[in-house]
Amino acid sequence: MTDYLHIGTVPWTDEDMRKSLKEFSEIYERRPMRDNTGGMQAPHMFLSWFVLKTLRPKTIIESGLWLGQGTWFFEQACPGAQLHCIDINLDRVQYRSKGAIYYNRDFSMIDWSSVSAQETVLFFDDHQNAYQRVMTAKWFGFVHLLFEDNYPPSRGDCYSLKKVFSHAGFAPISSEENSLSSAIKGKLASLFRPVASPVAINYVQPNTVDAQYLRGNIETYHELPPVFKTTNTRWGDLWDEHTYPTPTPLLSSVEEPYQQVFLDEAASYTWMSYVKLK
Ligand SMILES: C[S@@+](CC[C@H](N)C(=O)[O-])C[C@H]1O[C@@H](n2cnc3c(N)ncnc32)[C@H](O)[C@@H]1O
Repeated sequence: MTDYLHIGTVPWTDEDMRKSLKEFSEIYERRPMRDNTGGMQAPHMFLSWFVLKTLRPKTIIESGLWLGQGTWFFEQACPGAQLHCIDINLDRVQYRSKGAIYYNRDFSMIDWSSVSAQETVLFFDDHQNAYQRVMTAKWFGFVHLLFEDNYPPSRGDCYSLKKVFSHAGFAPISSEENSLSSAIKGKLASLFRPVASPVAINYVQPNTVDAQYLRGNIETYHELPPVFKTTNTRWGDLWDEHTYPTPTPLLSSVEEPYQQVFLDEAASYTWMSYVKLK
């Protein structure tokens, strides 16, 4: 069995998380969008809400809004926090917070000098290179980071911290691109495309250096546990510990009706992680 990686400590316990599930389920019932396909479901909304509620930051910077459902939950977790909401496509946002500041350019291109970096939580659900996000965050002086879609080596569309720690690198090939016809199409297209393609730009060679640098700059790396673990992953294969090392789930069976939603949406889990920088 491959153990999941854990570095440093967090100021909460799994028991604290279990005790908060009921309160969250009541908030989840009141969510503005019933269908948030393409965004976080109950397991990850719970994890991000719980961490924010526990850390109580003055400022939250959210990158990757989709319909804006996460923003609504962050307001429930930290009613007094100043929200900065970023998405390269704000047209899709259905829930807009009155108090938030919205941006349609990348996190790395925004001037954060007026924000108290140490009292801010960065929340990334923008499917960008997580390793580069850590470097940029460090440059700005931020300390607390949350990463959604912390994909294991064989999955996902971005270079995640889980991939970094696995020394896996990242080859941005979707299952569609993986098909033979797409491979031929890609090869033909590359003959007429002398400049580097986005795929080539995003490619990361398998390496140990990135993990070494992360370890040197991270005080805590904590993969947040799933509420329930199902037999199969969201990709339909076996959720085994060798391919998908996972922290122990908070619950093993539904004992109370409010817990059912976490089981119904359990396969949406993607190893969300909390990072505290040195
Ligand atoms: C998975 S969705 C976010 C889901 C959302 N957090 C939720 O749970 O409802 C990813 C979002 O990232 C946005 N995105 C893509 N590149 C981005 C970037 N560089 N900066 C910010 N957002 C970006 C996309 O437009 C998309 O809305």
